Amino acid sequence: MFKKKRRWHCLPGQEPTELDKKVMYWENKGKEVPTRDMVRTPEQIEGIRIAGKLNSQCLDAVAEAIHPGMNTQEIDDICMKFCEDHGCHPSCLNYEGYPKSVCTSINEVVCHGIPKEEDVLQEGDIVNVDMTLDYNGYYGDASRMFIIGGKTTPEKEQLVRVTKECLEIGAEAAKPYCFVGDIGHAIQKHAEKYHYGVVRDLCGHGVGLQMHEEPDILHYGHRGTGMLLVPGMTFTIEPMINMGTWKVFIDEDDPYGWEVISGDELPSAQWEHTFLMTEHGVEVLSE
Ligand code: MF3
Ligand code: CO
Ligand code: CO
Repeated sequence: MFKKKRRWHCLPGQEPTELDKKVMYWENKGKEVPTRDMVRTPEQIEGIRIAGKLNSQCLDAVAEAIHPGMNTQEIDDICMKFCEDHGCHPSCLNYEGYPKSVCTSINEVVCHGIPKEEDVLQEGDIVNVDMTLDYNGYYGDASRMFIIGGKTTPEKEQLVRVTKECLEIGAEAAKPYCFVGDIGHAIQKHAEKYHYGVVRDLCGHGVGLQMHEEPDILHYGHRGTGMLLVPGMTFTIEPMINMGTWKVFIDEDDPYGWEVISGDELPSAQWEHTFLMTEHGVEVLSE
C-alpha cells in the first residue's frame, strides 16, 4: 500500500467547501487539478486587476501612437515610458535574455518579435503588440493586433478578425469547473473552419504572481483534457493563428533566438487577455 500524493489539500480544521468537494471529485477520477495556491485570494485578485488595467492602458498608449512609418523601437519606447510614468516594470525586459520591454510581431512573425529601429511599419502590415507588466508584485499580460494605416488585404483582415473571435470563443468556453481542453477545442474548431493553423508550440498560461505560471492553456485539443479550471484562477488565453500551416520555426541566424515565424512564412495573428475565473465564467482583467 502507498499513500497517494494529492495536489489538492483542504484547509486544516475546516469542513470541506463546495470548491474542495468538486476538486477532490475530479482528482479522484484521475483528472489534473490545480493546487490551492493557484486559487487567488481576494487581495491577490485586486493586485492582478490593477496590473491588468495598467497593461491595457499601456496598449492604449501604443494604439494612439501607432502609424505607418513608425519603427518598432518607438513602440518599445512608449511602453518603457508608460512603465516609468506609472511605477510599473516591463516584465519581458531581460527575461531569459529577452532584450526589450514588449514584443512586436509583424505579418509572418508569430510572436516574440523584438522591437528594432530597422523595422518600419508599412501600410497594410498586421502587427501584434504583446505587453506584460508587473506592479507591486502582480502581473498583467495582454496583446492586440493593429492594422497599419487601417487597411490591409481582405485575407489579412479576415485572419485578424477570426483570431479575435478565437479569443472570444475560447473565453466563452471557459466556464467554472471546465477543463483547459474545452477552451482549446472551441478555438481549434473555429480556426479550422477557415483552414487556418493553430500554433501548438506556444500556449497561454497561468499569470498573476509571476509572468508565466501553471497551467498551460493550449489553444487546440480535446474537451475534458488538461487541468480543471476553478473560480479564483487567473490565466491568459492567447491564440496564435496562422493563415497556413500551424508549424513554426526560429531562424538559426536569429541573434537572440526569440522571434517565432510561421512555417510557410504566411501571416499570423494573435490576441491575448488576462482572465479571472469566477462562479459564472471568465472576467477580463486586461481591459
Ligand atoms: N507576453 C508574452 C506572453 O504572452 C511573454 C513574452 S516572453 C518575452 O506570454 F520574453 F518574449 F517577452
Ligand atoms: Co503576452
Ligand atoms: Co501570455
